[in-house]
Amino acid sequence: MLANNITPHRSGVASEARRKITGSVPAVFWMSGLSGSGKSTIAVQFEQRMTEEGHAAFMIDGDTVRTGLCKGLGFSTEDRHENLRRIAHLAKTMASAGLTVVVCTISPDKQSRDTAREIVSESADFYEVYVKASVDVCAARDPKGLYKRAFAGEIANFTGVSAPYEVPENADIVLDTTANTAEECAELLVSAALDNIYKPAKLVRSMLDAAMLASAKIMEIYDGKYDVSFKEDASPLTTADTASNEVLTSYFRETYPEYSILTEEESSAADLHGMPERLSNNAGVFIIDPLDGTKEFIHRNGEFCVSIGFATHNRVYAGVIAVPAKRLLYYASEGHGSYKIQFDGIPSDVFDPANRIRVSDRTGTTGEEADKLIITASRSHGDRQTEALLDLNADRIADTITAGSCLKGCLIAEGAADIHYRFGSFMKEWDTAAMQIICEEAGGIYTDGTGNKVPANRADPVNHGGFIILNRPESALTLPEPIM
Ligand code: ADX
Repeated sequence: MLANNITPHRSGVASEARRKITGSVPAVFWMSGLSGSGKSTIAVQFEQRMTEEGHAAFMIDGDTVRTGLCKGLGFSTEDRHENLRRIAHLAKTMASAGLTVVVCTISPDKQSRDTAREIVSESADFYEVYVKASVDVCAARDPKGLYKRAFAGEIANFTGVSAPYEVPENADIVLDTTANTAEECAELLVSAALDNIYKPAKLVRSMLDAAMLASAKIMEIYDGKYDVSFKEDASPLTTADTASNEVLTSYFRETYPEYSILTEEESSAADLHGMPERLSNNAGVFIIDPLDGTKEFIHRNGEFCVSIGFATHNRVYAGVIAVPAKRLLYYASEGHGSYKIQFDGIPSDVFDPANRIRVSDRTGTTGEEADKLIITASRSHGDRQTEALLDLNADRIADTITAGSCLKGCLIAEGAADIHYRFGSFMKEWDTAAMQIICEEAGGIYTDGTGNKVPANRADPVNHGGFIILNRPESALTLPEPIM
């Protein structure tokens, strides 16, 4: 009997509230490929890697589902369609609940794959993933011994042998398991999933937009009259700091309500020692210094920046640094590289290879003059540790250049300088988050003062023990004994 008189109920929980908990966006990666092509092997590793990255991912495997939800269905065309229809609904529901779902079924015909796309797309992004391996390759692997039996005529309707397989012509992602290992294929899928979650091109474009708006505000104030006051820690604060902060926070609260904000200008003692909302937000956090280099701003040397980092699961995923007085923008996003553009307009392709920047390949190890290092550090009397570092490594250093605020990192990212050492606990993560990813994506290395990776969105944002930026590992200098 058919079910009549039914009234589906909608969930009352907003998707952004769910996202703050799961960190995921509804998505289904629907793998299609012959038996033995490697779908489940890849999916198992994908689940594992996504979990390590802090994302809830779940695999729906054809063989497994056929023991429960789809028990009793065989391998006729009709039964396969029903099998895949049920799986599509299951995947859709699980994705809506906040999971990244990976489905492994043969899905041999275009029609069933298109139906799955239609069902899932009502509430989640759908990606068709072709796991490519020929019948010959799969038959040679024959992990379950099924091809041998199918060729012997013992299994009817066996896909690729006695039943057809329609190769996906327009798959969103192709994973060739003949050319790549399962690990490599899983990694490609992880990148695709993270790109789906963060939409890096859109995210970076928004961050660039916001940085330009804040820069315009800052320059308006820079060119006119402004007030300077002093914060509790005696650092200066101008009307430009507060105005830029206002522009940025209202922009991001509006554009990305699912993300939290950590900004220098709103980091009260309560935020540092209490349990701020940002710490439990798995979707993401903007880490903002609305005007990095207020002293430079006051000295009118142009070396001040707007620094916007975006962190997720305790690591920086994207960063934008605007240099308003020089009309420059530096930016990066994980897996997409680092870039430098002018203020003239954001390119239609934010990841245009023409704008990419990379660290230099000087290491100061060959003894050649051209290989000697350019270090960004100031020879100030106040920092004896840096002086000792420079003296100890003098034979490897060609030049010491000074630059304000997070411009130091930008100079290294674009190869104009090579290394930077900062001792002491003066910097906070809003000073360094954007610079960190811009240096890393340009090929450099960013660590704390003892060479360890620095987590982001910490309860305590102070960079204890300083930090080090290197263009290459070989460029590391010999450290002097700590000077107290
Ligand atoms: S689908 O065609 O409906 O998408 P599904 O992925 O669920 O298939 O199940 C395929 C699995 O069932 C294969 O990996 C294999 O282990 C097993 N199997 C048993 N009989 C067949 C058959 N006739 N054709 C293909 N796979 C079969």
